[in-house]
Amino acid sequence: MNLILLGPPGAGKGTQAEALVKKHGLVQLSTGSMLREAVKAGTEVGRQADAVMKAGGLVSDNIVIGVIADRIAQPDCARGAIFDGFPRTLAQAAALDDLLAKRNMPLDAVVELKVDDAAMVSRISGRYSCAKCGAGYHDTNKIPKVAGVCDACGATTFSRRADDNAETVQKRLLEYYRETSPLIGYYFAKGKLKRVDGMAPINEITNAVEAALGLVERV
Ligand code: AP5
Repeated sequence: MNLILLGPPGAGKGTQAEALVKKHGLVQLSTGSMLREAVKAGTEVGRQADAVMKAGGLVSDNIVIGVIADRIAQPDCARGAIFDGFPRTLAQAAALDDLLAKRNMPLDAVVELKVDDAAMVSRISGRYSCAKCGAGYHDTNKIPKVAGVCDACGATTFSRRADDNAETVQKRLLEYYRETSPLIGYYFAKGKLKRVDGMAPINEITNAVEAALGLVERV
């Protein structure tokens, strides 16, 4: 199954991808996470992406398409993937069409998480993750079962993203509306678009995404 999760910063793409990975053993491809890893590792891709990401801009199509092309060629993507944060431009969407066509794989669906802009800043400013395994949390919306201990791996160190501040979020939202929102029409025209209320509680959204995909029956 190949699924795209579409939505502005803080819409819950990563949260929903994580839930689907846990429940259905799918593979999550988050270009944001891959780029952050590259920055941490000090690779050439990371060096080129670092300043752009800190400023809330979009990393160039060439770089991001290259990262995804390499990743989906790995064996664990043989059954498809959940694309989280990719594509983000029409050029990236066209590149993904080509990559999937070359692999004889269909794009099953594109789920748009519909959210209120006002909620995004609060979601993003409260977000943090496990420094060891990357599991995502929120100061009020999703706290670990035991305070200060990661539910997934038991680690006790957490971190916040460098681009999660009010100023950068505005820039990221602007980029979303300018560059990414045209993808809604692109996938609607292809008959792939499903719309889900991204303001509902996290587990209800997961259920709605599963229902929209017929995932329970298919995986
Ligand atoms: P990326 O890492 O993809 O960031 P983003 O798109 O801005 O999305 P976020 O990760 O901020 O939000 P999300 O939708 O995953 O929300 P989450 O589930 O965490 O990209 C970062 C940067 O990398 C970009 O700005 C760009 O520079 C670069 N980049 C990446 N991909 C690129 C590409 N393809 N092309 C070019 N550049 C690229 O949820 C947020 C918080 O809300 C969490 O704390 C969560 O617990 C909470 N929450 C989630 N759902 C709910 C809910 N239903 N109710 C209440 N709280 C909730």
